[in-house]
Amino acid sequence: MTTTETEAVVPGQGREGQARDKGTIRLGDRTRGEATDDTPRYAPEWLELREPADAGARAAELLDPLRIRLANLPGRGGLVIHDLGCGTGSMGRWLAPRLDGPQHWVLHDRDPYLLHFAAVGSPRSAADGSRVTVETQRGDVARLTADALAGASLVTASALLDVLTPDEIEALAAACAGAGCPALLTLSVVGRVELTPAHPLDDEIVDAFNDHQRRGDLLGPESINAACDAFARHGATVRVHPSAWRLGPDESALIAEWLRGWVGAAVEQRPELAARADAYLKERLAACEAGELNVVVHHSDLLALARPTGGA
Ligand SMILES: C[S@@+](CC[C@H](N)C(=O)[O-])C[C@H]1O[C@@H](n2cnc3c(N)ncnc32)[C@H](O)[C@@H]1O
Repeated sequence: MTTTETEAVVPGQGREGQARDKGTIRLGDRTRGEATDDTPRYAPEWLELREPADAGARAAELLDPLRIRLANLPGRGGLVIHDLGCGTGSMGRWLAPRLDGPQHWVLHDRDPYLLHFAAVGSPRSAADGSRVTVETQRGDVARLTADALAGASLVTASALLDVLTPDEIEALAAACAGAGCPALLTLSVVGRVELTPAHPLDDEIVDAFNDHQRRGDLLGPESINAACDAFARHGATVRVHPSAWRLGPDESALIAEWLRGWVGAAVEQRPELAARADAYLKERLAACEAGELNVVVHHSDLLALARPTGGA
């Protein structure tokens, strides 16, 4: 992805300085509703940097059960796939070429800037060469209803669940159940991180970051269990598979950006960590630059197969 804009990017977190941007963007920061002048936003540069690691981490094991469900859809004339919180569209770039048949992707995000990148960078063909088309829809995915998903073959999301609230996850599960639509919800953080070599401050930073993820009524690391419960309550068959980032010297740019955002969020949550966290970050970045740091960031992918309603 290229961008012609030249404003500064907050390391590991996002872009600031656009005329309509007020806040900086943090990993997982959010406000409710559509993007406004005050809505924190995700930097396309950050999403671009993480895309190869995301692609390598996604649980391919969930694809066969998904393909079987999609192949058995009644009256199949092509798939309609709603990608929620699509960002720049990395989910579609990964999934569309792994599914057969014509596909129409409806890309949802509250950020029109990211939707622009998603439309421009969308995949053009399916696994079997069938045509892939896209449309974008700007809005709040937390307000999605079963009616809005009428005719949908599949709902996807990537790196979204952990920035939702319990009510929003419940609404998402209800909407998918009402539409009889399966959901592939990937790359939710689960609150576990392993750094090698270990450091005495690791656990404190992990805990502070996880508390930051839970601020307000956000679910953060509890989102995957909450989503499993919500979809199961609505009658879906749920499968979960690990989808960890496994990062080493070849991914040093991503590790460095991730470290800055991760430690920054931990300090924002517990300001008393600031001095020790500053020294920790310097040490970790030096090890990263020397190719001596490995990081595993654990995530989970969830496939929820709703009871079909016969309408899709
Ligand atoms: C961490 S990014 C992930 C983007 C993309 N799915 C990916 O995997 O690269 C989260 C995305 O969800 C969007 N988002 C978060 N909350 C939202 C909401 N309530 N309604 C619409 N979009 C939302 C953000 O604008 C951002 O693009």
